Amino acid sequence: MPEFERETRSAEETIAFGAELAAHLRPPALVLLYGELGAGKTTLAKGIISGLGAARLEDITSPTFTLVHAFGNHGLVYHVDLYRISGRHDLDSIGLDDLLAEPAVILVEWAEKLALRTDWPVIEIRLESSGADDRRRIRVRDEAGALHGLAQPARGT
Ligand SMILES: Nc1ncnc2c1ncn2[C@@H]1O[C@H](COP(=O)(O)OP(=O)(O)OP(=O)(O)O)[C@@H](O)[C@H]1O
Ligand SMILES: [Mg+2]
Repeated sequence: MPEFERETRSAEETIAFGAELAAHLRPPALVLLYGELGAGKTTLAKGIISGLGAARLEDITSPTFTLVHAFGNHGLVYHVDLYRISGRHDLDSIGLDDLLAEPAVILVEWAEKLALRTDWPVIEIRLESSGADDRRRIRVRDEAGALHGLAQPARGT
């Protein structure tokens, strides 16, 4: 089962890794992002979204308060943040089912809050800070092979 990890040493490296992933990503795909506050979920999402060509880096901000940002281009890209969501009612208000109605790339921060059944290929990404420095361990799990052609990227760099 395709699972690999990467360590980055700066936000820039995480963005670059996101762009690398984006090059292998095509809709439909559900990208679930896990990690503590400040782990780098939004930073990685920026790399993926800009890498997909859906928006410029500087135009991508955290959807913490808006909950969903939609980017249109060659296919739809949605950036969702569930941090402020509590309970089924809130979750329903986001209208995730509508987002899943047509092929898109959907990135979800605080994905542990998601209760969803879908046929879409799911990519799980876990970000961990190792402590006080800028290193982040990023683990990618792509059970459905949604990262097309990404055979076996360099392990444990
Ligand atoms: N290697 C790294 N990868 C990603 N971000 C890093 C790294 N090193 C330092 N940072 C910094 O850590 C912060 C990560 O913030 P970011 O908003 O991406 O986290 P988040 O997981 O989305 O947090 P939140 O739970 O609040 O949404 C940024 O300030 C970024 O510059
Ligand atoms: Mg965030």
